[in-house]
Amino acid sequence: MGPTMTLTILFCADPLRPRRVDEHFHHEAETLRASGGAPVLLDLEALRRGEVTEAVRRVPRGIGALWYRGWMLTAAEYHALAKALAARGAPLMTPPDGYQRAHELPGWYATFAGLTPASVWLPLLPRETPARAPLAAAAGRLPQGPLVVKDYVKSRKHEWAEACFVPDSADTDALVRVVHRMVELQDDSLSGGVVLRAYEDYATGEARVWWVDGDPVLVGPHPDSPGADAFPDLDLVRPAVRALGCRFVTTDLARRADGVWRVVEVGDGQVSGLHRGADVGDLYFHLPDPG
Ligand SMILES: Nc1ncnc2c1ncn2[C@@H]1O[C@H](COP(=O)(O)OP(=O)(O)O)[C@@H](O)[C@H]1O
Ligand SMILES: [Mg+2]
Repeated sequence: MGPTMTLTILFCADPLRPRRVDEHFHHEAETLRASGGAPVLLDLEALRRGEVTEAVRRVPRGIGALWYRGWMLTAAEYHALAKALAARGAPLMTPPDGYQRAHELPGWYATFAGLTPASVWLPLLPRETPARAPLAAAAGRLPQGPLVVKDYVKSRKHEWAEACFVPDSADTDALVRVVHRMVELQDDSLSGGVVLRAYEDYATGEARVWWVDGDPVLVGPHPDSPGADAFPDLDLVRPAVRALGCRFVTTDLARRADGVWRVVEVGDGQVSGLHRGADVGDLYFHLPDPG
């Protein structure tokens, strides 16, 4: 075991056993506890119902600054959570604007322009179907060729042909069909709006790089693509990560067929999935510990 830490991390509670950490994060919480840190519990379902005081009732008052590790929150949920925690003397280490900047593509895109596929977006409400003309106009701002469709946070990559990939950006019928299907499948969980991205030919799976205060602290395969083996060129990405100004973020990197490493997406480290076998203790050891 490594050195003792006094880190506090807010984990989602198990919905059925509210005094326990959610099964998915159990190993992370146990690793934290074993090295002297303190897991505390969030009632995620209460937060999602809008009962934010209820959601944080198990967080000890005055416990001091903490990190969150758990399921993705919307920017609005994170904002409400941050406010309730601050009022309890337990402020989140990442402020709400920082969370939104790292979590949603329009937040990080300009900072990573040139390192990531060209992208355009249209704000949308969940289940709102965008009109044909603005979609065609948005696609027209990208180089002609294949497109990838997603919302501000997630794609429907497992429904690739149906709801994620458009073979030709000039084929407006196909564009409208794929975007409408993506919106339909995202349903209530559509984040922010629709994003269209120029398709790039990647030669590798993705490596997920975890950054703390602008330095890479853990590199591993993306949890969804365990085969990724290559070592990404981090010197290319570091200045952008620093410019983003968020303390704890991830970048998913793939090597393009022409050999250039590309940023497929950026995420807030609090809600990024860790690959199996990652050294959780080492990651936590690098997280700033207020106290
Ligand atoms: N511009 C692109 N060019 C080629 N493939 C892409 C592009 N954008 C996404 N992909 C593929 O689709 C997958 C999902 O896209 P991503 O932006 O990572 O969304 P998600 O948040 O759902 O993981 C990526 O892992 C990658 O394989
Ligand atoms: Mg991804």
